[in-house]
Amino acid sequence: MKYSDITKLKHLAQDKISRSANPAVVRNSTIFFKSMQELLKHEDIVKKGSQVNFYEYGRGGSQTTIALQNFIAELELAHRTFLTSTGFGAVALAIISICRPGDEIIVTDAVYAPTRIITSKLLKEFNIKTHFYNPENLTSLSAKINKKTKMIFVENPGSNTFEFQDLSKIIKIAKKNKIITAIDNTWGTPFFIKPLKLGFDMSISSGTKYFSGHSDVMLGSLSVNKKVYDKVRFCNKLFGYRASPDDAYLVLRGLRTLDVRLRKHEESTKKIINFLRGEKKIKEILYPYQKGTQNYENWKKYYSGSTGLFSVVFFSKNKNSIYKFINSLKLFGIGQSWGGFESLVLYQSNIIQRVYKKYIKPNHHIVRFHVGLEDPKDLIEDLKKSLRRIR
Ligand SMILES: Cc1ncc(COP(=O)(O)O)c(C=O)c1O
Repeated sequence: MKYSDITKLKHLAQDKISRSANPAVVRNSTIFFKSMQELLKHEDIVKKGSQVNFYEYGRGGSQTTIALQNFIAELELAHRTFLTSTGFGAVALAIISICRPGDEIIVTDAVYAPTRIITSKLLKEFNIKTHFYNPENLTSLSAKINKKTKMIFVENPGSNTFEFQDLSKIIKIAKKNKIITAIDNTWGTPFFIKPLKLGFDMSISSGTKYFSGHSDVMLGSLSVNKKVYDKVRFCNKLFGYRASPDDAYLVLRGLRTLDVRLRKHEESTKKIINFLRGEKKIKEILYPYQKGTQNYENWKKYYSGSTGLFSVVFFSKNKNSIYKFINSLKLFGIGQSWGGFESLVLYQSNIIQRVYKKYIKPNHHIVRFHVGLEDPKDLIEDLKKSLRRIR
C-alpha cells in the first residue's frame, strides 16, 4: 500500500472473503489438508519462509494473527512481524534469536527493568555477557565493543527516564562492526518513527500499550528485516511463541485509531507539561519539550510526534508526601502499564535499577505519568489539588 499511515490504519486487514471491514476471529489448532502431498508441500513452503495465508498447524497462527502480523509489518516497513503473547515476550525473542554462549550484548543503561534482568542475570547463566552503555554518551557504547559483541539492544527513549539517543550514530557503529541491532520502540510506535528504515534489524513494540490503547489485552510484536528473519523464525517456532486470535483481533481494532489517539495524548501531555513547568517542587521534567537539550534535538531528528508517557523529578525531603500526592490523585490511577485511554501514575525511583544513576540522588523522586484521553483541564485540576500535598 502506498498510502499514508493514517489511511493504512483504516484500510489494512479488510477481509476479502467475507468482504468485512475487519478480519474474522479464527481460533484454531488443527488445520485440514486435502491430501498428504498437499500437507507436505505446504510445510515446505512455510519452511522456506514464504508468506502464507494459513499454517500447517495452529501454533503458526490463524487468519486473525496473520492479518495483524501483516498489518504491523506494513507499518514498520518490515520484512515480517512475529507476534508474542506479551511485549516482554518479544523482547526475549529478539535477544534469544541472536545471542549464543560466548557472545556479548550491549544494552541501554536506562532499559525497562525486566529487560535488564534478562540480559544481566539470565543471559549470564548461558555465558553471554552484558554491558550497559550510557544513552547520553554514545562513546560509552563504542568503548564496550569487541570481537564477541553480537547485539546492541536499544530502548529509545528509556521508559522511565526518557533519554533520546542519536539513533543513526548507533546504526553506524553497529554496521561498521557487523553487530545486530534491536530497538524497543514501544514509546514512539511505528506511527512516529520507523526504526527498520533507519537501519535497525529488529523493532519491538509492546502491543499492550498504544497499539491496543484500551487496557484490556496483552501482546507483543517483533518486526524484522531479511537479514535476521531466518534466525527469529527458527527460535519463534521452537519456543512456541504465539498470540491468541482474540487478543490479535483486539489489538487490530485498537490500531485503527492509533493516529487519532496518539495525537490526542500528545496534545494533552503538552498542556499538562506547560502547567507542571511552573511547579516549585519539580526539579526536572523528563520529556522532550525543551529546545536546545540533547533529548529535544534527538527527538526532533527522529520522531514525528511525542506520546503521553513522561516522568517528573520531584525534590522533597519528605518521601511520604510524594506518596500522599500520588494517592490523592483522582483521575490518575496507580497502576502499571501505559498507552491506554486512561491516565496513570507511578512512583518509579524504587524500580530504577540503573548503573547510570543520574537521577538517584537524595530527596529526588521520579514519578512517571501517563496522560490518557480525559479532558486535560480536568487532569490539570486534579494535579493542582494534589500537588499541595508535597512538603
Ligand atoms: C518499554 C517497554 N517495553 C516492553 C514492555 C513489556 O510489555 P508487556 O507489558 O506487554 O509485556 C513494557 C511494559 O511496561 C515497556 O514499558
